[in-house]
Parts: sequence; structure tokens; C-alpha cells
Amino acid sequence: MAYYRQRVDNSLEDIIKQLPDIAGQLHRAMHYSVFNGGKRVRPLLVYLTGQALNVTDRVQDLPACAVEFIHCYSLVHDDMPAMDDDDLRRGKPTCHKQFSEATALLAGDALQTLAFETLTRNQQLNDSQALAMVRVLAQASGGAGMAGGQAIDLAATGQAQTMSLDELKTIHAHKTGALIRASVQLGAFCLPDVSNNTLAALDQYAANIGLSFQIKDDILDIESDTQTLGKQQGADINLNKATYPALLGLEGARRMALQCHEAALDSLSSFDKKAEPLRWLSEYIITRDY
Ligand code: IPE
Ligand code: IPE
Ligand code: MG
Ligand code: MG
Ligand code: MG
Repeated sequence: MAYYRQRVDNSLEDIIKQLPDIAGQLHRAMHYSVFNGGKRVRPLLVYLTGQALNVTDRVQDLPACAVEFIHCYSLVHDDMPAMDDDDLRRGKPTCHKQFSEATALLAGDALQTLAFETLTRNQQLNDSQALAMVRVLAQASGGAGMAGGQAIDLAATGQAQTMSLDELKTIHAHKTGALIRASVQLGAFCLPDVSNNTLAALDQYAANIGLSFQIKDDILDIESDTQTLGKQQGADINLNKATYPALLGLEGARRMALQCHEAALDSLSSFDKKAEPLRWLSEYIITRDY
């Protein structure tokens, strides 16, 4: 994990450094929101999927950066007063606290478009691969993906107890699952002739860890502490957010996360040892402490 974090950090830094800085504060806010101690789980997924398919790391560097740019943008906007209204992110003031709301809005916008530009710069891929990646990432980020999930999450805020398990699953599958599935697909598309069967198995794996990732995030909001999390503990409870523990209790949520982990492992049953890191990552997701 440390190796890939360093690897993607180097590439992220290179890309941001090369941007023309025409508005100092915006540029600083973008840098601030990318380099603040994120776990880099989505880039790791890109690399580990590539590993399972024998793709070299070098091909994966830009797709790994692209998905992390989208993720960082989503966090900047998620923390703003109109959404979750949080002051702390990754152990530091949130972007709008450190800079201003207008700057945070623009930093999110700019990180989002930078993600797509990044995908078009990959000299290691042919044009149709690059196009497929742009489409996958756009669909996963937009109204039918992460942004759509965020909208349902906000609409459901305050109504945690009245929602059905299916509705909750829909929120999580979109706001968090979509980008995690996209990460795996970006990794897989680095192999020009990847088969539909392989894609389907990987997608099932990704859908399961996408769900367990957000269930664990919900659990940590309750049982961890602000220092460890780097974000305000109890923030979901304060807003009466629709979460798995709110609906099923902590034990029920833990059981659900474990079921997703087991289903994720089942999805990889036809893969050999090269998929071992993906299996490890699924376990990491439900056992992590931040
Ligand atoms: C937090 O994501 C937001 C969710 C989608 C649950 P991460 O837990 O991956 O956040 P960082 O990138 O490590 O800060
Ligand atoms: C965020 O979910 C999902 C995003 C698309 C950013 P949360 O609102 O639970 O994420 P945290 O807990 O603030 O990191
Ligand atoms: Mg949120
Ligand atoms: Mg939030
Ligand atoms: Mg959360």
C-alpha cells in the first residue's frame, strides 16, 4: 500500500505542478485538497486490478490519478455547508474553511475536469481505450453515479429510520460504489483485449467492496474518534444521516459488511494468485480503522 501511495502521489504532484497557475488561491486549494493524507484506496484498486491482469504499473498511473482527482473533488463538495457541512477532513480544515466557499466550489470543479484531461494524456493506451475510460469515469461521477447518489443521500438526510434497506443500498451503491466500480474498470481497460467474463467478475467484486466500503465508513463514524478518522466523529448521527448502523444497528451493519467481503471473494474465485492483493484489499476495507 505504501509503495502505491507513493507512486500515485508522485504522479498527482507532477500533474498539478504542470498546471498553469493563473489564480494562485485556486491552485493552492486544488493542491491542498489532493495532498492531505488520503488513503488512496481508489488508485490502489486501479493498480491491483491491473496486477491481477498482468498489466504493468506504468499504464495505470494516469487512470489512478484521474479517479483520485474525482474522489478529492467529491470530498471538497461533500464537506461544504450546503451538503454535510464539515470542518475537518483528513485531519485538516476542510477546503472551504481553509480558503473560502467560492474557492472550494471552483477547486472541486477544476479537479473534476482535470480528471478527464488526465485520461486523455495516456500515451500507453490506444484512442478507443482512452475513450472507454473517459466514458466509464464520466458515468460513474455524474447524475447516474456519484453525484446522483449524493443527491439521494441529501434528500434522505434526517429520515434515517424510515428508509428501506433497498433505498439505503441504492444511496451507497451510487455515492460511493460507482467510483469504486469505475476504479476497477479503469484498471481492467488497461488490458486491450480484456474479456467480458473477466470484466463481469471484477465488476461483481467491485460492487461488493463498494458497498462494504461505505458501510465501514458509516460504522467508523460511530465507533472511531475524530483524531483517528481525521474527520468529525459522530457527524452522521448529528445530521441523522441514512446509514447502515442507523437502520440495522452496529452489529447488523458489521454483518452486512462481512457478507459483502465474502461475496467479493467469491466473485474472484476464477482468478489465480495474482488477484491475492485484491482479496487482501477487500479485507482491509472492512478492518481498517480510518
Ligand atoms: C471517504 O472516502 C468518503 C467516502 C466515499 C466514504 P475515503 O475513506 O476513501 O477518504 P480518503 O480519501 O481516505 O480521505
Ligand atoms: C461521501 O460519503 C461520499 C462522497 C461521494 C464524497 P460521506 O459523506 O459519508 O463521506 P465522509 O464521511 O464525509 O468522508
Ligand atoms: Mg456525505
Ligand atoms: Mg460527508
Ligand atoms: Mg461518512
